[in-house]
Amino acid sequence: KTHQLAIIPGDGIGKEVVQEGIRVLDFISKHSPNNFNFETDYFPWGCEYYLEHGRMMDEDGLERLKNYDAIYFGAVGFPGVPDHVSLWGLRIAICQGFDQWANIRPVEFLPGVPSKLNHPDTDTLNWVLVRENSEGEYSGIGGRNFTGRGPGKEVAVQSSLFTEEGCERVIRYAFDLARTRKRKKVTSVTKSNAQQYGMVLWDEVFARVSKEYPDVETDQWLVDAMAANFVLHPEDLEVVVASNLLADILSDLGSALAGSLGIAASANLDPERRYPSMFESVHGSAPDIAGKGIANPIGAIGSASLMLEQLGYAEEAQLVNQSIRDATAAGYLTADIGGNTSTKEMTDAILEALAKV
Ligand code: NAI
Ligand code: MG
Repeated sequence: KTHQLAIIPGDGIGKEVVQEGIRVLDFISKHSPNNFNFETDYFPWGCEYYLEHGRMMDEDGLERLKNYDAIYFGAVGFPGVPDHVSLWGLRIAICQGFDQWANIRPVEFLPGVPSKLNHPDTDTLNWVLVRENSEGEYSGIGGRNFTGRGPGKEVAVQSSLFTEEGCERVIRYAFDLARTRKRKKVTSVTKSNAQQYGMVLWDEVFARVSKEYPDVETDQWLVDAMAANFVLHPEDLEVVVASNLLADILSDLGSALAGSLGIAASANLDPERRYPSMFESVHGSAPDIAGKGIANPIGAIGSASLMLEQLGYAEEAQLVNQSIRDATAAGYLTADIGGNTSTKEMTDAILEALAKV
């Protein structure tokens, strides 16, 4: 079977790590007993494109992407283009345009990677964040200076949108995911003491849905306390579900605790499969290290593994994950996780491990 992939490398290290993920996809498709391969089309969209064309992607961008089997995305962000322009012009445009309402972000503690946690047995930790990816704090509802009061007196409004349907589908997703895992537990995170409308609705939906899953353990936290809990009691965590902004923040915290932002993978899923899903590392374009060949490709390769899983190749995805672990266990570590392995050498080590398993 041939899968059509749309590739959007974007800016900075996005371009560097996407190449590495493609190497792994090519390798696994050639060596798998399941007969499949990828046909790739590259889209040059991103900040450099913006500087030339005044848009992050073509006007008919979503139309051109919608028939692909999946989208593989690097990162965007470039000095000279405001971050809200680059984010809304491409990543959020795709996530919301294709209703990729579930953003799955595993937090993996890899052998040989120094964790920032003071925990005796980080090998036993393995969380996954389920981020609401279509509304919440990223509704885009609001405006600036609508009172017309002028400089120095400007007023900006930024509204969050919580719909019962939007909360329910992502909370249900988290419960279904928990049922597939060894420890069946879902933790809901809000700030519903202060955000008394949308997040209270979220809490009510969580309570209602949880009754349908009596076999799944639950707990509910406020996000400030949960930030501390991530550090103090990481063994409490299994599946963590939260709104767009809160889960975004917690996933960076999680991956930093596991060692680095560079190892975090993510999948933006349309679980109803009406549109292509999009797979991307959690990190941004990292202008501070771009072009040096030292970016960690593990987040991008892990995202390629999530893509394999979603396309129906769970076994291959498992092999890729195992090879990442074998490579770090063998001491191949990029600079962000305490070594001096280059981007290319890191992938080489993963491919070498993959050839052995
Ligand atoms: P960032 O994730 O690009 O970098 C944060 C820090 O982590 C930097 O010190 C960087 O060197 C390091 N880092 C990140 N990924 C790494 C990797 N794979 N290997 C080694 N080190 C890595 O976040 P930052 O600096 O806040 O944002 C830079 C740009 O990226 C901004 O323009 C921002 O808007 C954009 N951004 C884009 C995202 C996306 O496209 N999905 C997500 C987050 C930020
Ligand atoms: Mg983020």
